[in-house]
Amino acid sequence: MSCIYSCSSTPSFFAPFVSSRSSRFALSSSNSRPRIHCALGGTVAEPKITTAAEPLLLNAVRGEDVERPPVWLMRQAGRYMKSYQIICEKYPSFRERSENVDLVVEISLQPWKVFKPDGVILFSDILTPLSGMNIPFDIVKGKGPVIFNPLGTAADVEQVREFVPEDSVPYVGEALTILRKEVDNKAAVLGFVGAPFTLASYVVEGGSSKHFTKIKRLAFSQPKVLHALLQKFATSMAKYIQFQADSGAQAVQIFDSWATELSPVDFEEFSLPYLKQIVDTVKQTHPHLPLILYASGSGGLLERLALTGVDVISLDWTVDMAEGRRRLGPNIAVQGNVDPGVLFGSKDFITNRINDTVRKAGRGKHILNLGHGIVVGTPEENVAHFFEVAKGLRY
Ligand code: CP3
Repeated sequence: MSCIYSCSSTPSFFAPFVSSRSSRFALSSSNSRPRIHCALGGTVAEPKITTAAEPLLLNAVRGEDVERPPVWLMRQAGRYMKSYQIICEKYPSFRERSENVDLVVEISLQPWKVFKPDGVILFSDILTPLSGMNIPFDIVKGKGPVIFNPLGTAADVEQVREFVPEDSVPYVGEALTILRKEVDNKAAVLGFVGAPFTLASYVVEGGSSKHFTKIKRLAFSQPKVLHALLQKFATSMAKYIQFQADSGAQAVQIFDSWATELSPVDFEEFSLPYLKQIVDTVKQTHPHLPLILYASGSGGLLERLALTGVDVISLDWTVDMAEGRRRLGPNIAVQGNVDPGVLFGSKDFITNRINDTVRKAGRGKHILNLGHGIVVGTPEENVAHFFEVAKGLRY
């Protein structure tokens, strides 16, 4: 029986992994590597034999018997690092930083060199493909994404070109190939794309949005127009994932950050079919490529997110990890979900939250991560502490 299924609201695991004064759980100290125990002795997934040459993250996703959860952080490459800010002073344009192979590689490797995470995410943006789809945009300091000509009509959608990654973003492919060589299977190289609904929300709203009124007006008054746009994004993002995998990405995360702005019934119409289409298309050509799906504030949609067929659901921090596991079942891997705000806390607090999350996730099929991206201003020493604790864990 899976331990998670046996857990009531009272934890049935013991033992934090790294000692901490204020931990609520008993430390198992029979040897120098504390182990996690389940009261009923079960695990989340039946462990299989580990392939040593593969990165830990891939083995964990496949349900193999790993000694600890792999760890990486969303928005790992970027603004909280002093070394990134120095590059920003020299290259103030986000587009330049994210479209120049040397800069992309250098920025992607900054956290790798300092923290040695188990996943190295490409430095890029979900909006990067837009110019290749004939949707001019920029990412403006202090303002965020700006779409110069927001889309709102059937004629606008007709102007959107399908994406040919080889032609439009060769630098992404080149950067991934270099990263794969540099990281050399000591960690997994991670690619990512935006999901159709989330991309559509930017191009229809013209940028970030609070109430998503423009895209909802389109969805609820001219659904055919929105479906035509979503279809173009679905076809394009499936191709983009295949391109990233062929270039060196060993797992790809799909960000549907704003899908949870939709009510469940609207998610089923405007997001789920397109996510499923992307997953089905990619699985045809790359059946072993792990696909990770993230949506912010996803508690209301968890079971529906799993219907997409992805291998990993990334939980945001508002979901209790044990409840998330219970709701998703033992066959799908989970990622997350420490509150990024925890990284502003004391080192003991950070340690406790890591232990709590890993204990609730159970053994195997878990990638330790935050529940959203690292926030600007996060002390780098706390990020270092997070990785140190995480990499010292043993099941
Ligand atoms: O995780 C990583 O380190 C890889 C890089 C990465 C960036 N954006 C770099 C970036 C990733 C994975 C993203 C994904 C992304 N981009 C998402 C999905 C994740 C989420 O946050 O829900 C979304 C919605 C975007 C769109 C986007 N890009 C926004 C809303 C912003 C502005 C954010 C802000 O607060 O200013 C960006 C810009 C952006 N993308 C920055 C970085 C490091 C900050 C700008 C800068 O460094 O100059």
